[in-house]
Amino acid sequence: MAFTIAIDGPAAAGKGTIGRALAAHFGFAHLDTGLLYRATGRRTLDGIDPVEAARTLRADDLDADDLRTPEVSQAASRVAAIPEVRQALLDFQRAFARRAGGAVLDGRDIGTVICPEAEVKLFVTACDAERARRRHKEMRGGGHDVTLEEVEEDLRQRDARDSARAEAPLKPADDALRLDTSEMSIDEAVAAAVAAVERARG
Ligand code: DC
Repeated sequence: MAFTIAIDGPAAAGKGTIGRALAAHFGFAHLDTGLLYRATGRRTLDGIDPVEAARTLRADDLDADDLRTPEVSQAASRVAAIPEVRQALLDFQRAFARRAGGAVLDGRDIGTVICPEAEVKLFVTACDAERARRRHKEMRGGGHDVTLEEVEEDLRQRDARDSARAEAPLKPADDALRLDTSEMSIDEAVAAAVAAVERARG
């Protein structure tokens, strides 16, 4: 039976961590949809046209090991504003969302565009300083030599672009449950998300 958990929110709010934990808890499949845009953006840095890059994206492209750099983050946010790019990635995401056995998708437009019929919608946020602090720590841990200021600037620019674009902008669905994780530990945020899903499952 299909059961979809849609998680949206700004960059580095904790969507991925919560999404992975929910998928593990409920035995659902998880899709980090940002990876689709990152892999598309990554290919444009090699000179491939963005729409072509999205249309010919392959599973291998999602495994590239440099998809988390600030340069690729920015390229992802830029290609994500192109309607034909979003269109090219739509069917894959919709099919994933409705697969049998349950699915968790995290991104920017999951509850609004990809899966408006999702059984649970979460809009995860955290204050700017906390998001930058977490992403900086994560990137340094992954061996990326970036400063806190560079991370802050990347998040600021992307959130502004992702929210202002005409096509599928970052915004909460009317029926999304908001989860501000600024003051929460990972365990607390996951527990709150699990409780929300359990309430919806009845
Ligand atoms: O979630 P992320 O930070 O890995 O996403 C990278 C970029 O991709 C983000 O700045 C905007 C875009 N994106 C999007 O437009 N829609 C999604 N569902 C997921 C990501």
